[in-house]
Amino acid sequence: MKTNIPLAHLGGLTADEFLRDYWQKKPLLVRNAFPNLAALVGKEDLMELAQEDSIEARIVLEQDGNKKWALRKGPFTVKQYKQLPKTHWTLLVQAVDHYFPELAVYWQNFSFIPSWRTDDIMISYAPQGGSVGKHFDQYDVFLVQGGGQRRWQLGEFCDKDSPLVPNTPLRILADMPVTFDEVVNAGDLLYVPPRLAHYGVAENDCLTFSFGFRAPALAHALERLVDVALEHTGTESLYSDPQLTAQTHSAWLNPQHLQDLQQQILSLLSNPNILSTALAPFLSEPKYDDYEAMGEEIDPEELITRLQQGTIICRDPASRFVYVGEQGQAQHLYINGEEIEPSEFHAKADFMALLADSCQLTWDELKSHIEDHDNINWLCDQLSAGFWLLLED
Ligand code: SIN
Ligand code: CO
Repeated sequence: MKTNIPLAHLGGLTADEFLRDYWQKKPLLVRNAFPNLAALVGKEDLMELAQEDSIEARIVLEQDGNKKWALRKGPFTVKQYKQLPKTHWTLLVQAVDHYFPELAVYWQNFSFIPSWRTDDIMISYAPQGGSVGKHFDQYDVFLVQGGGQRRWQLGEFCDKDSPLVPNTPLRILADMPVTFDEVVNAGDLLYVPPRLAHYGVAENDCLTFSFGFRAPALAHALERLVDVALEHTGTESLYSDPQLTAQTHSAWLNPQHLQDLQQQILSLLSNPNILSTALAPFLSEPKYDDYEAMGEEIDPEELITRLQQGTIICRDPASRFVYVGEQGQAQHLYINGEEIEPSEFHAKADFMALLADSCQLTWDELKSHIEDHDNINWLCDQLSAGFWLLLED
């Protein structure tokens, strides 16, 4: 995508400007960024989803002002819903985009951010007074208001030493000096950078869609890197010291020697092949590590007919895609932690990249690529593996 054109959902900022001035730096409120989002998922959908075993859901109840908090973990039953009070609770459901492809395609609006940084779309429903308290998160989030209204207050940047309310199952900030105070309506977007304190309270029946990002723990990335570096290196690479100078104290661990060791270790890790072989599968891991994509068999003729009738192709929202090679050329494609080995059909690198880069594709965007016999056969294989879905118009 072009990164220097004004985007309405960023209030007219370009992607370049947003990343330069706001991303991980300061909040941004955009009124009416996504006017049609609220219609996609409703309270009933959420309540139904949260009854399923496979869903990650929780209910947060607030009693007695900021003092008594209760946290319940899903799945929930209709009986539990019936016992909820009239006000002051929130139902939060993770990864709703995995179940609603028409919602997942909204990620396209943020495709200027690497897709391996995206986590999920969580949706919360709250009646009047519902809130999860004053808190901060470790990750970037675009909070988009669905139905109803929510009052958002923002505070300051926090860290692990920021005082918390004691004896609650949640991490509620003891104090939050207010730096921003606005009521948002359906379609409004609020970007909140990591560690910025925020506090949202439902004014009335209220749905909030959180487009959440993830960032790998560097310790985990390092683990992967070391594993792969060890496989490639073996024990024949030894520390070398042709410049060794005479020591006056033979048992002294000389800081210069430590620095030399560090440099030689880092040079093993910084081999670009090792970097991408270790990190591309790691960054393509799905949100849920037991996730397995599943699709249906389709043959090229049927696929073409359906695409011509208006069916679109949608990237599986629960799968993660990363490729390595030139920009727009997937020399190596990784999905859900594994490299996709070339099948008997050698799809072209630009076609695989197009598929991995796009949340959805129509017949018009696909047709010149799938005239190629290898491309269309490969695509049929991938559809049956479940990495892409067919979505009726
Ligand atoms: C909510 O949707 O109620 C809370 C979202 C958040 O604060 O991260
Ligand atoms: Co939050």
